[in-house]
Amino acid sequence: AGLDTSAVALGKLYFGTATDNPELTDTAYVTQLNNTDDFGQITPGNSQKWDATEPSQNTFTFTNGDVIADLAEANGQKLRCHNLVWYNQLPSWVSSGTWTNATLLAAMKNHITNVVTHYKGQCYAWDVVNEGLADDGTYRDNIFYQYIGEAYIPIAFATAAAADPDVKLYYNDYNIEYAGAKSTAAQNIVKLIKSYGAKIDGVGLQGHFIVGSTPSQSSQASNMAAFAALGVEVAITELDIRMTLPSTDALLAQQKTDYAGTVAACAQTSACVGVTIWDWTDKYSWVPSTFSGQGAACPWDENLVKKPAYTGILTAL
Ligand code: XIL
Repeated sequence: AGLDTSAVALGKLYFGTATDNPELTDTAYVTQLNNTDDFGQITPGNSQKWDATEPSQNTFTFTNGDVIADLAEANGQKLRCHNLVWYNQLPSWVSSGTWTNATLLAAMKNHITNVVTHYKGQCYAWDVVNEGLADDGTYRDNIFYQYIGEAYIPIAFATAAAADPDVKLYYNDYNIEYAGAKSTAAQNIVKLIKSYGAKIDGVGLQGHFIVGSTPSQSSQASNMAAFAALGVEVAITELDIRMTLPSTDALLAQQKTDYAGTVAACAQTSACVGVTIWDWTDKYSWVPSTFSGQGAACPWDENLVKKPAYTGILTAL
């Protein structure tokens, strides 16, 4: 059995992968993306982001996002929808606009309402707010925080819930996969949203890790339990485990161990609904272009051949 089949047999909802529109012209890539034995869920890596969906104010373009949503539907794969409010990949009319509290609030609500309404019924979950925290656990000083304050977060969740009451609403971030100031701050975001009378269903643990310094299975599991105690589910939403290149047999063996421990933390935690890798092949990983000198972060290599990490994941499921 493959990754999704094994995850579902364990009681998880899915094992999945990110993908992106430019990759869909690669027929060998698409053949494996469509392999529902391994992938029961997909996430659009870019095409539902604000710059892609509302490039100028109140003009919405869903073409690329729809290609991936339609592919998921045709394959019978769940869709994690990503994302609504994030400081990055904003169109310049947002990031460099002239705003007041009232005008930015109206623009944010209009964006959320239109995008969530368009995809209503197609998403398992929405990442409503992405990366709202700095690494020290303070709020990230983004444009929404500057003009609206922390209230932008519960207001975003309430707006999304009003547009689609059935979709799961997630807060998603990195460096919240283990105990520390940032994870505590993410737990406080869950409480903040609830204190406003809004709903949050889940917390996404991105999981952009480094070979040899991936948090242990037990630290990831206890951290998941801390979120679950607040009454939310969790998911690993963007897993990849990068290394300093070149790849060696020793690094690939450690990567297998690190993937296995991370997936096992989800497997042992009933509140963890699934794991998504941030693309399945090194051929299309975001890592080399973002982290200089690093790469080989995915379970399949750049020739679409399975690495030891694949077996590591499978043994954890
Ligand atoms: C990345 C995409 O994979 C890249 O193609 C893009 O250039 C930048 O964004 N955290 C997130 C994702 O929440 O949206 C990011 O995706 C990776 C980090």
